[in-house]
Amino acid sequence: MSEFLLEVQDLRTWFPIRRGVFSRTIGHVKAVDGVTLSVAPGETLGLVGESGCGKTTLGRTLVGLERARAGRISFRGLDLTGAQAGERRALRRKLQMVFQDPFESLNPRMTAMDIVTEGEVQCGRLARRDCAAAARALMAEVGLDPNAIFRYPHEFSGGQRQRISVARALSVRPAFIICDEAVSALDVSIQAQIINLLMDLRDQHGLSYLFISHDLSVVRHISDRIAVMYLGRIVEQGPSKAVIDAPIHPYTRALVSAIPVPRRAKKERIVLEGDVPSPANPPPGCRFHTRCPFAIDACRQAEPRLEPRAGGAAPGHLAACIRKDAI
Ligand SMILES: Nc1ncnc2c1ncn2[C@@H]1O[C@H](COP(=O)(O)OP(=O)(O)O)[C@@H](O)[C@H]1O
Ligand SMILES: [Mg+2]
Repeated sequence: MSEFLLEVQDLRTWFPIRRGVFSRTIGHVKAVDGVTLSVAPGETLGLVGESGCGKTTLGRTLVGLERARAGRISFRGLDLTGAQAGERRALRRKLQMVFQDPFESLNPRMTAMDIVTEGEVQCGRLARRDCAAAARALMAEVGLDPNAIFRYPHEFSGGQRQRISVARALSVRPAFIICDEAVSALDVSIQAQIINLLMDLRDQHGLSYLFISHDLSVVRHISDRIAVMYLGRIVEQGPSKAVIDAPIHPYTRALVSAIPVPRRAKKERIVLEGDVPSPANPPPGCRFHTRCPFAIDACRQAEPRLEPRAGGAAPGHLAACIRKDAI
């Protein structure tokens, strides 16, 4: 049995691009294109990268909302991609997702009670007559008024709606929660409250998280380890402190240099030129070479592997860059 709760190997999720009256497939958006990562029980892995690099698609593939084209997802040692439908459904209940926009992901016609009990009711584990009590307990658990269970989503604030989303995910007693930009739409002070809630729940229930955000300064507070994604691939991963204090990959360095810090300690800001290239046609070799100030000819040839830096980096700190020992 593996020491990891979730293991992802060389996962690829591509979206077909169709044209013409016959909807012929003329190419693919390679949203997730060879991702390998793992999360241990009780661990929080932060996933960062600019908008469009494939974070949401990766999360949706893990919970079964998108189909992987290739690769392997194993959860508690069982292969999710190959499991039988029934077995897969049971496993997937243990894997939940909290979305960015609770207003969009919460049904406006359902009360808070219906939203947070739906999962258990649907699978026959909760009787209708027990819903109110179960909903009250869940509301209290996420810091909401238990008497608000008959209210509708629009009667709650943004932060409260996000708490309802968290309660909904918690209701089926998952082992793993994917938080996709779960606090990005909220004010900074509310963000901190939700992050504190997530950390408390993690400690109480021994949960693991994949915490997705485009904002490294949000991810660093909650993550044990951080993975940095660029154009469908992980370009760096390691313990949070190592990735933030001693980033290896030029892309991570640029993200880190953009975190606001007190003036005194401010390092030189690395500003990335240009836009993220299209995932339908990623650059050959290292996908970052078109924007990298350190790129050499060899960077255009072969795709670099995730490897430790020669002669020293924190254990488990890896980067996919052939220049990592030179810069
Ligand atoms: N359902 C879809 N059909 C086609 N392309 C998609 C779909 N969902 C996402 N994409 C594309 O996949 C890429 C990655 O998107 P996404 O996973 O949302 O990135 P992120 O969450 O990092 O912003 C983008 O180029 C996006 O346009
Ligand atoms: Mg996203």
